[in-house]
Amino acid sequence: MTNRTLYIVVCGAPLASRTADGVQAARANGWDPYVIPTDAAMPWLADQDLGDAPVITGNRTPHQPKRTPPADAVAVVPMTFNTLNAWANGNANTYPLTTLCSALGSRTPTAATPFAKRDLAGHPAWLASLAVLRYAGVTIVDPQSGSTSAVDAIASGTGAEAASGFSWEWVLAALDPR
Ligand SMILES: Cc1cc2nc3c(=O)[nH]c(=O)nc-3n(C[C@H](O)[C@H](O)[C@H](O)COP(=O)(O)O)c2cc1C
Repeated sequence: MTNRTLYIVVCGAPLASRTADGVQAARANGWDPYVIPTDAAMPWLADQDLGDAPVITGNRTPHQPKRTPPADAVAVVPMTFNTLNAWANGNANTYPLTTLCSALGSRTPTAATPFAKRDLAGHPAWLASLAVLRYAGVTIVDPQSGSTSAVDAIASGTGAEAASGFSWEWVLAALDPR
């Protein structure tokens, strides 16, 4: 049986430090992962060993062939406040956002882990954008508990701690309920 294709969209927040773990866990669960980082995520990826997972950055040129097979599922880990709102609004001005908007439009199974401190999560756009994504069928996975029904912001200064307590199995289980 061939593996299924998983796009892992990575945004610029401390949980991006767990991307290599996500690649490994995805492979162990029968996925072929493709890493699609935002520009802001790149510093977190610099010292990680992503094995042979392709890392897809920027738009392809018009004559370049497609760089990924179609996605069977998409994981957005972490999802920043910025990407959450841009995606929910339908902004597609970067490759990761175009990928996310297409996934939403085509109802590709998607799980997203929002990761933002309380100041940002207190902005009214946070709840509104989460509601839009849930309405469209995205599973929202809490970064600190794995809950898919409630999501909490990260206390200021605890980003690294929250990242180390996160389990990729929560996201993979949300995409592949057994
Ligand atoms: C050290 C550092 C930590 C950050 N942590 C977060 C975070 O936890 N959540 C968040 O939404 N933004 C965080 N940001 C801000 C985002 O990286 C910034 O809003 C960026 O524009 C997001 O771009 P992206 O959504 O394209 O990844 C952090 C930035 C830095 C430099």
